[in-house]
Amino acid sequence: MIRNPVFCALDTTDPQAALALCRRLAGLVGGLKLGLEFFSANGPEGVRAVVDGGLPLFLDLKFHDIPNTVAGAVKAAVRLGPAMTTLHASGGREMMAAAVDAAGEAATKWGVARPQLLAVTVLTSISQGDLAESGVAGPVVDQVKRLAALAQEAGVDGVVCSPHEVDVLRAQCGPGFHLVIPGIRPAWSAANDQKRVLTPREAMAKGADWLVIGRPITAAADPAAAAGRIQDELAEILP
Ligand code: C5P
Repeated sequence: MIRNPVFCALDTTDPQAALALCRRLAGLVGGLKLGLEFFSANGPEGVRAVVDGGLPLFLDLKFHDIPNTVAGAVKAAVRLGPAMTTLHASGGREMMAAAVDAAGEAATKWGVARPQLLAVTVLTSISQGDLAESGVAGPVVDQVKRLAALAQEAGVDGVVCSPHEVDVLRAQCGPGFHLVIPGIRPAWSAANDQKRVLTPREAMAKGADWLVIGRPITAAADPAAAAGRIQDELAEILP
C-alpha cells in the first residue's frame, strides 16, 4: 500500500461533522487537518474527539509569539499527538528553535511521537504590496526563500508552501526538508477561491511530501469516493 500523502482539511467548527468525515475517510486519506477555526470553537477536547476517529492529525495552529510562549503552546499541542503542527517563520530563529526543543521534550514526556514542525513563510493572502507595507522590500518569493532557510537552520522539519513555490524550495532546501502544499485541485474538481493550483500528481512530481486538500473532498457529493479517486490517481505515480 502507498503512503497516502493527502491530509484532508476539515474547515468547520462542527465537531460532529468533523468526526463523521474522519470516519468516512479512514483508509482513503493519510490524515486530517484541523486549524484555528475548529480549535477556537472546540478546543483540545474537540480535537481529541476527532482524533479518536483514528486518522493522523495535522494541527494547523500557526503559532507566533515570544519563544517562551510558543514553547509552552507547542508542549500543550504535542499532548494531542499530532503528526504535524505549524508556526510562523517570521517569529524568528529563537522562537522556532524553542519550539523544536519543546516538541522533543513534550513528546518524550507524553510518550508520543514528536510531531513534524512546519513553518509558514509568507501567507499566500499577502501580496507584494502588503509585504512592502510591512517594511519588507523585494519580491515575495525572496522573502519566502529567506524564511524557509531560516526555518531550516532553526531545526524546523519543513514548510507549508504554495503550489508555485514547491520547485524553488525543493531546490533550495534539499530532499530531507518537508514541503506541505495546499491549493491542490484534481483535474475534475472546482478551483473555488484558489488562484494557483496544481493537481495532486503535479504537486508530488514537483517535490511535495504532503498535500492539503479540503473542498474537493469535503464538498463532494460523496467525500469518500472523491478521496478514493485521488488515492487511485496518486497510486499510479507513487512507489
Ligand atoms: O478547500 P481547500 O482545498 O482550498 O483547502 C485548503 C486548506 O489549506 C485550507 O484549510 C486553507 O486554509 C489551507 N491553506 C491554503 N493556502 C495556504 C495555506 C493554507 O489554502 N497558503
